[in-house]
Amino acid sequence: MNIAIASDHGGFELKQRLIEHYKTKGQRLEDLGTCSTDSCDYPDIAHRMVKALRDGQADLGILICGTGIGISIAANRFKGIRAAVLYDDFTAEMAKKHNNANIMVFGGRTMQFEDVVRRIEIFLNTEYEGGRHETRLAKIEEGVA
Ligand code: RB5
Repeated sequence: MNIAIASDHGGFELKQRLIEHYKTKGQRLEDLGTCSTDSCDYPDIAHRMVKALRDGQADLGILICGTGIGISIAANRFKGIRAAVLYDDFTAEMAKKHNNANIMVFGGRTMQFEDVVRRIEIFLNTEYEGGRHETRLAKIEEGVA
């Protein structure tokens, strides 16, 4: 499973810590930027992630901005994208089980590193239930232009 990660300046520090953390565990996160704390526009970062998923460069994404809000709104404008802000452990589980999210979203200015790592692990270790949820996900796609 290829996991890509990207952030704006508000999520840069958290992104770097996650990349280092997973490197020590032997898991490479594909870094799509940004590359510094210089100000940048989170929609550009979200678009980069959407392209990586669509091109098959990654199977799953992690996006980070200051709050997780702007970057999730931007990513969710695209067909086939289900970006979920994992604001607690229960949500991390449900985002996979019921929503089959393909982008995990975090807030670099609102969340603690340890909480984020735990939520990533919960998400990765949860199975999508399918069934009635598949009908609902299909209805989401119907509503996307
Ligand atoms: C950037 O200052 C900030 O607005 C952005 O990281 C994010 O929090 C937007 O939702």
